[in-house]
Amino acid sequence: MLTMGKAITRRRAVAVLTATLLATGMAACGNSDTGEQPADDGKLTLGFSQVGAESGWRTANTNSIKESATAAGIELKFDDAQGKQENQITAIRNFIQQKVDVIAFSPVVSSGWDTVLKEAKDAGIPVILTDRSVDSADKSLYKTFIGSDFVKEGRLSGEWLVNEMKAATGPVNIVELQGTTGSAPANDRKKGFGDAIAANPNLKIIASQTGEFTRAGGKAVMEQFLKANPKIDVLFAHNDDMGLGALEAITAAGKVPGKDIKIITIDAVKDGMQALADGKFNFIAECSPLLGPQLMDLVKKVKAGETIPQRIETEEGTFTPEQAKAALPNRKY
Ligand code: AHR
Repeated sequence: MLTMGKAITRRRAVAVLTATLLATGMAACGNSDTGEQPADDGKLTLGFSQVGAESGWRTANTNSIKESATAAGIELKFDDAQGKQENQITAIRNFIQQKVDVIAFSPVVSSGWDTVLKEAKDAGIPVILTDRSVDSADKSLYKTFIGSDFVKEGRLSGEWLVNEMKAATGPVNIVELQGTTGSAPANDRKKGFGDAIAANPNLKIIASQTGEFTRAGGKAVMEQFLKANPKIDVLFAHNDDMGLGALEAITAAGKVPGKDIKIITIDAVKDGMQALADGKFNFIAECSPLLGPQLMDLVKKVKAGETIPQRIETEEGTFTPEQAKAALPNRKY
């Protein structure tokens, strides 16, 4: 039998427990990881899985997507995969469970997507690839791919070098800092550059290794390159960040970047453009991260059942030091 005091204590405990359960339930409604359904307020919901935050380019891309979603009145469920494919697969499965209207993602690597893309298709949720593509043979697994032509970026970089070194009479030793192994930009930029420099047999890649698209990776790998190779004439870095990291290693080794070692990079983010304007880099092929506005437009079109092209290529250019100086004051990222 309960005494009066014990009965009051128990009622209080039940009340606290009920309040806690309600609060937990309410918090879960707003959490994209719980599989809860989005609020039915008439807004389109976009689930977006981002690669991570490895570079200045990626930060600018994330900002573009978040700002554009807000401007377009689209509810964005954003997931940062921290560079791991398994995290992206989990995020996509969560988006399917939450019944978002559209899923978009920038795949960390090119292969291994067929199963989860088929799950999205079976659930009737359209998928848009942004920035990087997948190697799936079945093109019906996604509606469109919006992003750069990475092979072209590599080719333009190689063509610049072929022209720059046209007077060379002996071997020109090139080291290459590759992006994330297995990623579309690493594979494609390597191919485009390699194809272009084949025009001059003096141009030789003497070392090539991944720097994971990060400054720290670029610096560490460039240190190894410098230790192992007494004569390095050119660095081709698959992005600005690795090139910027490599600058530190080159300077620490007592060499002058841009002069003793010519530096070619890809992206054209502000820090890279500054290095180019300062004569520390020699050439940059642009890769635009500002994909947000076009993506939001496509989300609306896909949801409205409009036909959209299977491939939408981003427009981009190239920069010399003089062009970088002119472009820097208005550079948005
Ligand atoms: O996929 C685009 C590439 O990924 C950018 O060139 C690089 O900076 C980023 O991390």
